[in-house]
Amino acid sequence: MSRRIAVSALQVPEVGERILLVDEDLSIALFNVDGQLYAIDDCCPHQGASLCSGRLEGQVIKCCAHGLRFDLASGYLLNSTRMRVASYPVEVIDGEMFIVIVSEECIP
Ligand code: FES
Repeated sequence: MSRRIAVSALQVPEVGERILLVDEDLSIALFNVDGQLYAIDDCCPHQGASLCSGRLEGQVIKCCAHGLRFDLASGYLLNSTRMRVASYPVEVIDGEMFIVIVSEECIP
């Protein structure tokens, strides 16, 4: 089961920017990397710092707390599959943008 979170045109970040979206129990960081949008959970799986406030290095977000780096596309810790932040597909349907939350990923 999945649900969709609508993203209005005003919420879409500019290239190189990010926004934080809060929906129910989820805080989602939405990044725009060269026109490609990536949505991940804002909570770093290491010790919970905000990834939205991290340093963007191409398609990689570097956590501001301890410097771990996560691939925005897969959510995995760089060069590892041992730690992962939830990542969510971004879809456009009939010109409207949505972040897709699959039920397993709804659980914090
Ligand atoms: S809380 Fe993100 S690297 Fe430690």
